[in-house]
Parts: sequence; structure tokens; C-alpha cells
Amino acid sequence: MEQNNKLLEVRNLIKVFVIGSGFARSKITAVENVSFELELNKPEIFTLAGESGSGKTTLARMILGFIPPSSGNILYKGKDVSKLKGREMELWFMREVQPVFQNPFETFNPLKKVDSYLYETVVNYGIANKKDAFKPIDEALNLVGLSLQEVSGRYPHEFSGGQLQRISIARALITKPALLIADEPVSMVDASLKMSICNLFKELKEKQGVSIMYITHDLATAYYVSDRIAIMFRGNIVELGSVEKILTDPKHPYTKILRDSVPEPDPERKWQGRIELSSFEEKEYQSRGCKFAGRCPHVMDICRSKMPEDILIDGRLVKCYLYASNLNKAIV
Ligand SMILES: Nc1ncnc2c1ncn2[C@@H]1O[C@H](COP(=O)(O)OP(=O)(O)O)[C@@H](O)[C@H]1O
Ligand SMILES: [Mg+2]
Repeated sequence: MEQNNKLLEVRNLIKVFVIGSGFARSKITAVENVSFELELNKPEIFTLAGESGSGKTTLARMILGFIPPSSGNILYKGKDVSKLKGREMELWFMREVQPVFQNPFETFNPLKKVDSYLYETVVNYGIANKKDAFKPIDEALNLVGLSLQEVSGRYPHEFSGGQLQRISIARALITKPALLIADEPVSMVDASLKMSICNLFKELKEKQGVSIMYITHDLATAYYVSDRIAIMFRGNIVELGSVEKILTDPKHPYTKILRDSVPEPDPERKWQGRIELSSFEEKEYQSRGCKFAGRCPHVMDICRSKMPEDILIDGRLVKCYLYASNLNKAIV
């Protein structure tokens, strides 16, 4: 069956939020018709990039099963995630697909010893009972360059942000996941340690065969770690393909602006989040047609009335009417 070749299939995924109340009540489509796939047995780092408020976290939370989609499907190894229940959800899916969060200082309660989280993970996921937990914990910590001996009995404040993020990645690795979903995992980590976490992701992919969905607003680290990248804007993937092609030769006008706002010669001075004010956000989300039309230097009439389809050009998908002459070729 064709399904068996896919680790993850995201199909026409939509999430609508109702915001405000009373007369100010309105809807925004935080994720609008998003589709992409990750191959089975072909570990990769797939990056979801875009400015703050583009729908990255909402997409990640749906894939993790934390919130239900408004419509569309998420298939993990051919199984619809929204239909998983009970043991299959807890002992299969949640083991295989693990989250890594943004802020390790929030992941760990300051009053709780860090190793207690690791023991809890071992026990809660049914990996081993507490007395046999040393081995799986130590193995997971070894993968991130630490050991249980170093971590044992210590509190979060006794570690640096980088070390804590390593420990939270180790926690995620205890269940031997096939997919990590890491939402802005280095944004709270010191600049000097960002690359070491990025290298860790590469190593996990290459040596452990873990696929990683890396979510970031930082194109410098995205370029460094990713195999493929999806650029999101206001709920839509506007460009998707190999990171090399997309960041060296972007086609979508939004990707171009995003790329050019990364100061290239100094990798430490990265693009810092938003390029527009949040007051625009809601309007853009609610606009018809291409959400980027209001800011696009190449805007045409059609852009304001209808969202373009995915167009295959130069080995990547681009949602932009500038390439509409390639549309027919995309359907082959
Ligand atoms: N629970 C929610 N209720 C209402 N709006 C939400 C909720 N979560 C996110 N949003 C809105 O959805 C949009 C996308 O947010 P988010 O997925 O967090 O983007 P990103 O992670 O790219 O910054 C934003 O406009 C945000 O305000
Ligand atoms: Mg986010």
C-alpha cells in the first residue's frame, strides 16, 4: 500500500479559531489548507519557518494530537491521528512522536529535580518500572552528551539553558521516537549554544534515524540544519522544497523578503521575528486571496481575490501567481 511509505502525511489541514467576543467576535484561519509529507525510513530535518503568528505552533499542536483540526487529516504511519484512542494513542503514537518545547525553564518546574521528569517518562510510557529506569534514562542522556550521574539530584537552576534543552531532548528520546516535533527549540538558548543543539539534531537524524520537524523563525539555523523547508505565512505554506534551493534562490516574494532580512555575514545577528505589526495580523488572516497581497511588491488583481494553487517550479512548490504559467506542469 502506498500509505506504508509515509511517516507523516498532513492533508489539507485547517484550523479555525474564534477570537474576541460579542460584536467583536470573528474567526481566523490559523492554519489554512496545509499539506506535506515525511517519508518513512528516510530520516530528515523538515523545517517549518515563518514569522511569529504564521500558524507554526498551531500546526505542530495538531500533529501532536494536542488540538483537533477543524478539517483535514493527519496520518502517522498510515493511521489517522484524530482517530487514535486509549492505549494506541498513549503507548504507540505518543511514544513515537515526541514534542520538544521552546523554553526549557518552563518545561521543568524549578522546585523539582530534573531527573524526576526522566523517571516519570520511563514509567508513564511503560518503558520500564522505576527500579529499572536507570538504563533507558542514561542511554537517552548519552545521546545528548550527558549522563544520569551528571544530572541526578540536581535542580533546573543548576543547569544552563543549553544543558536543560539537551535534557528535555533526552527526555523526548527515552521512548525512542521516530519523529521529534521541536517548536522553536533554540530560541531561548544562548547564541553560542544554538549551533550545538542544531548539531545534536543532525546527529540524531544521522545516527539514530530520528526525523525532526524543526520549527523556527530563524532562517540561519534553518539553513544550517534542514533538508527541506516549508515557509509559512498567515496559515499557508507559501513555498516548500529543499532548503538549499529555497534559501539560496527563493521564488515566493514573501520568502525573498524573509530571506533578505537575515543579515548574512553575521550568523549571530539573525532575523528577529516580526517584520510587521500585529495589528495587521488579523486583517491579513482574514483577507481573501493571497494573504501576502497587501505587502507584496508584485501584487496583481487576481492575488486579492483567490488563493493561488501550489505551483511546481524549479523543484519546489510555490503558491504564487507570478509562476502561474507553470501551473499546467505542476499537475503532471
Ligand atoms: N488558542 C487560540 N485561540 C485563538 N487564536 C489562536 C490560538 N492559538 C493561536 N491563535 C492565533 O493563531 C495565529 C497563529 O498562531 P501560532 O500558531 O501560535 O503561530 P506561530 O507559532 O507561527 O507564531 C495567531 O494569530 C494566533 O494569535
Ligand atoms: Mg509558535
